[in-house]
Amino acid sequence: MAKAIDIQDLVVEFPGARRGSAVRALQGLSLSVEQGHVYGFLGPNGAGKTTTMHVLLGFIRATSGVARLFGEDVRHTIARRRIGYLPEHPNTYRFLTGRELLHMAGRLFGLPRAALQARVAELLAQVDLEAAADRRLATYSRGMLQRIGLAQALVNDPDLMILDEPTSGFDPLGRARIRAIIAGERERGKTVFFSSHELSEVERLCDRVGILSGGRLVTEGSVAELVKAGESLEQYFISTIRSAAN
Ligand SMILES: Nc1ncnc2c1ncn2[C@@H]1O[C@H](COP(=O)(O)OP(=O)(O)OP(=O)(O)O)[C@@H](O)[C@H]1O
Ligand SMILES: [Mg+2]
Repeated sequence: MAKAIDIQDLVVEFPGARRGSAVRALQGLSLSVEQGHVYGFLGPNGAGKTTTMHVLLGFIRATSGVARLFGEDVRHTIARRRIGYLPEHPNTYRFLTGRELLHMAGRLFGLPRAALQARVAELLAQVDLEAAADRRLATYSRGMLQRIGLAQALVNDPDLMILDEPTSGFDPLGRARIRAIIAGERERGKTVFFSSHELSEVERLCDRVGILSGGRLVTEGSVAELVKAGESLEQYFISTIRSAAN
């Protein structure tokens, strides 16, 4: 079975501030995610998590290296058909209502009109936004934008969800809900790849975690393999990042 995500020696360079200089956001990243797993992608600010996701989504091209989704090179559009994506800052289309946004997203994926109505109602209930469904996104709070973004990412019933800090901005009830959504996706055999700084959430949800530092994967494994008894994932994370920096 093909891996849901397979990344080999990925390098991404952005143009630097001075002419001819470059920022190396990813420096030979290799990583793979099995189908059906929930994978927590961790790392300090600027480590390269969002950049990695942008390569997977085809938003930016890698300088070198290969990335595949379900065996398809991400440079081919077909690789992205089975993905749902929640961006780090989901605040586009502010003139649409929540319901309209989900209808538009569903139509982009070619869902038949008849099925769409029911699907949108189901998603609005899942993220608890029924009461605000007919308000413009411009009037949504940060957590509400995060919720509608998550519903949008689910509209095509994706096999792989790529979520960039999905729990940021959620209240405790919202977090419990998103944990339930992720766990539900896993139960149905789906794959979830998400970045997060909230390590207690990660500890509860993930089959595997990878820690990125300076554009490289510094450690990977299940929480049980990595974290000693009596230690938290947060303590492990801090000591790993400190030793990677030395
Ligand atoms: N368009 C760009 N141009 C230049 N540099 C960029 C660009 N996008 C990202 N970078 C740089 O690449 C590095 C990785 O950034 P990235 O956004 O991937 O980090 P991250 O791990 O998602 O961080 P955070 O936890 O803060 O979201 C940073 O040094 C960032 O400044
Ligand atoms: Mg980021």
